[in-house]
Amino acid sequence: RSQLRGDQVIVVSNREPYIHEKGKDGRVFVRRPASGLVTAVEPVMRACSGTWIAHGSGTADRKAVDRHDRVALPPGHEEYQLRRVWLSPEEEQGYYYGFANEGMWPLCHVAHVRPVFRESDWLYYKTVNQRFADAVVAEARSEDPVVLVQDYHFALLPAMVRRRLPRATILTFWHIPWPNPESFGICPWRQEILEGLLGSTIMGFHTRFHCKNFIEAVDRYLEARIEHEHSTISYKGEQTFIESYPISIEWPTRDSVSEWASPAECRRQVCELHDIPGHHRIAVGVDRFDYTKGILERLHAVERLLEKHPEWRGKFTFVQVAAPTRAALEEYQAFQQRIEQVTRRINERFSAGGREVVRLLAQHHEHEQVNRLYRAADVCLVTSLHDGMNLVCKEFVAARDDEQGVLVLSRFAGAARDMPEALIVNPYHVEEVADAIHRSLTMPPAEQRERMANLRSTVREFNVYRWAGKMLTDAARWRLRERISERV
Ligand code: F6P
Repeated sequence: RSQLRGDQVIVVSNREPYIHEKGKDGRVFVRRPASGLVTAVEPVMRACSGTWIAHGSGTADRKAVDRHDRVALPPGHEEYQLRRVWLSPEEEQGYYYGFANEGMWPLCHVAHVRPVFRESDWLYYKTVNQRFADAVVAEARSEDPVVLVQDYHFALLPAMVRRRLPRATILTFWHIPWPNPESFGICPWRQEILEGLLGSTIMGFHTRFHCKNFIEAVDRYLEARIEHEHSTISYKGEQTFIESYPISIEWPTRDSVSEWASPAECRRQVCELHDIPGHHRIAVGVDRFDYTKGILERLHAVERLLEKHPEWRGKFTFVQVAAPTRAALEEYQAFQQRIEQVTRRINERFSAGGREVVRLLAQHHEHEQVNRLYRAADVCLVTSLHDGMNLVCKEFVAARDDEQGVLVLSRFAGAARDMPEALIVNPYHVEEVADAIHRSLTMPPAEQRERMANLRSTVREFNVYRWAGKMLTDAARWRLRERISERV
């Protein structure tokens, strides 16, 4: 907040921080989506206030929740305004399911799913970017607001806003990986996408590696001037600063921690809820039901563990939370079916005493339920095939104030760079992941404490306010520079 000195902040994201749904009894209730982006941006908005523009996605009657395109937030979250942009079914299909999630998502993640590029999706993507850009302009109270653009849904929006508000400070943060230039180059609209993003004042990624890939793509496909020393790109008279800002979570406050049940009590509750015998060791996975998260490979590793180490049979349960996501897409439906099939097979092979060894919980879970699982678990498995950062691993660490529990973490998640105390694995190497699970289950408490204490101090220090603070400090510097150069 101090960096902004009263400047107006506008956030643009596809996902909204709260979804209003209509229950079976007709009553409207509020749900928090499973989204790393929301986890990170929401506390920042509570601190900065301002306006959050997002795609209205709930099942509740839009008029009931959204008079004049604005809604009041649930109690305790009134610090900012949420403005919803409602899309037609065709717009949602083309922009969100089509270009964003069948094109850009597989283009940027190395998960060996081929992107699909349809001309009609691209046209909807452009239209919807324009609609959100119009909403930004409509919300702007001055000619130079600070606009925080989130993610691959809005690659064209920065340049659209720049044209209408040339003095705006536009910070675009890309929440997913940026691929190498060869991979990116297969996108038929690569030039438009790069030009759109270069409307940003600052273009942020999780890691230096993604910044480098982006700069190389610009170098390869645009006639731009790149100053590697200052990490800036000049294109058509505008300059963009490219920087890495590793995203994180809000560290839990003392008050919230004091309300948590003890790990032993969490364990008792989890065992009771899922009918897990009290003496079992518990591993958890918490993901959206997405093919990039490595859930299939993780199941194979659990199966391998039980083959290699029969001593765990009847003494081990794996709980996988898989929040529904993009379920209208065939790729996601087929993925879910495959996971269910493999889960059934493992359960047929290894369940003991009528109890399943793998519990697949394919439904939305509230933060409190997930936190209880984290506190009950012996091991947390974060084995994404590719992930910009991944916040589940940071949430797990934040939940373990007892300094127990082991994190198994994919080397292909951005988070692996700053969390070397986790057991770092290649998620494709089933044997290695199985061995890491075994090692976690047999790790002495003293070693768990040593690793967890270090992980906790890293995440506590490099929390989400650091992420936002660094970006806003850089933005403030740029604003000042521009104001000074205007005076010259
Ligand atoms: O972080 C990547 C991301 O796609 C976010 O943009 C998004 O909010 C989250 O994952 C969940 O995906 P979706 O909004 O499509 O459910």
